[in-house]
Amino acid sequence: MKGRIRDIVCIGAGYVGGPTMAVIADRCPDISVTVIDMNEARIAAWNSDALPVYELGLAEIVRRTRGRNLRFIPQAEGAASIAQADAIFISVNTPTKTQGEGAGKASDLSYVESCARYIAEHATGPTIVIEKSTMPVRAADTIKRILSSGKNGGSFHVLSNPEFLAEGTAIRDLEKPDRVLIGGENVTAIEALAAVYRHWVPDAAILRTGLWSAELSKLAANAFLAQRVSSINAISALCEATEADVDEVAGVCGADTRIGLKFLKASIGFGGSCFKKDLLSLIYLCEFYQLSGPAAYWQGVLDINEWQKRRIAAMAAEYAKLGGGVVAILGLAFKKNTNDFRESPAIDICNQLLAAGIRLRLQDERVDAGDFAKTLVDERKAGFAFFPDIGQAVSGAGAILILTEWDAYAALDWTALARLTAKDAAIFDGRGIVRRAAAQAAGFKVFTVGKGQAPN
Ligand code: UDX
Ligand code: ADP
Repeated sequence: MKGRIRDIVCIGAGYVGGPTMAVIADRCPDISVTVIDMNEARIAAWNSDALPVYELGLAEIVRRTRGRNLRFIPQAEGAASIAQADAIFISVNTPTKTQGEGAGKASDLSYVESCARYIAEHATGPTIVIEKSTMPVRAADTIKRILSSGKNGGSFHVLSNPEFLAEGTAIRDLEKPDRVLIGGENVTAIEALAAVYRHWVPDAAILRTGLWSAELSKLAANAFLAQRVSSINAISALCEATEADVDEVAGVCGADTRIGLKFLKASIGFGGSCFKKDLLSLIYLCEFYQLSGPAAYWQGVLDINEWQKRRIAAMAAEYAKLGGGVVAILGLAFKKNTNDFRESPAIDICNQLLAAGIRLRLQDERVDAGDFAKTLVDERKAGFAFFPDIGQAVSGAGAILILTEWDAYAALDWTALARLTAKDAAIFDGRGIVRRAAAQAAGFKVFTVGKGQAPN
């Protein structure tokens, strides 16, 4: 196999593949990077000025690399690129299975398997195939089996190189990663990929492990992060009951360097395409290996998350029912600085409010209203509407529920908004970003997660 990677193909132009390949192309002008996707509309968007992924700094990088050493092409035109590639990243979605064995928990590898078949069909020379998507442990076995069925004489080494970027800070995370993880069995292949990252990442930050450790480490890292959020959210409810302040408690706990301050911000619950899916995948693996204790432990992390969403939605619904039954929702994205709303807590919370007969006025800084509307179920015909403007969204509302920590919401002029809302309107701050004194001075009752009882 070749010791040097000059030609990279990435299958999957999503939230991970797109930004990751843009940064590789930016940092490695000597490497040609081709991103292919079966979704032709998505490829067209990557080739336009309206990129399908919103990330700070991404548009600038794409502008300077696209047409230089970065290309986005539809999969239908990808065969020649696969044949020529030294390294192929698989960066497609691995959603939770909805049917068959492990439905509801195990990760669906059918997209990955179809990529492996596509590679086996078109690859001609020695090729490094890299798992970039998060995979269940031993997924590489499946990929190897499919690759070995190729008829074109391609020979393959499979590496696991899971991506640790977080949405909203993807470019920063890619440009200055805490670590890059490469798991594999063949040292030459591992070092060839390490050499790509060494264009901008210090060698000490490139961790080499076995394949199975790499696959499991990604699941474990996400589970640990999710567990911290569930831990502080469990404490937030106790803070509300006891008049302790969750930010103060988090600050004190986090000052212990063994605990650390990050991922201790109380919220309405975690969302995003990774935490729930990866916890479910981990739980499935534990059950598969008959480890019922660990399975129950990780299930508890998920259960607290569901509980936190439900209890905050119930509080807002109860209060809104006393007034006109109208709630303004500020924030639909699962966190700030992204247009992504996959598994966003806003979905469950909005649906719980609609089921309670509450009318919703929705606003977000980046999320596409039409796409988000498809996640809503309005059987009781309570009704919902989207507003581009925050002032319009809160007009006539009896409660304002903040679900995403967008900077624009932290800086709101509550005195001006108080003139638009219903009388006795309350703010339910699910992200701990509202300046309570200013909002209270403007006449609002304020509930902040982890800080005192809900208004009544
Ligand atoms: C996560 C991991 O952080 C990343 O390393 C991995 O590659 C993919 O999964 P992501 O889901 O994009 O990234 O975002 P993250 O910043 O981890 O936030 C996940 C959720 O937890 C968000 O809904 C966020 O609002 C919530 N969260 C995070 C909290 O509620 N409190 C916190 O203190 C931190
Ligand atoms: P992630 O957050 O992991 O990047 P996304 O859903 O944003 O996930 O992106 C995954 C991308 O992979 C989508 O654009 C999808 O069209 C693409 N994809 C899935 N399966 C295949 C496949 N077999 N061949 C090519 N592209 C694929």
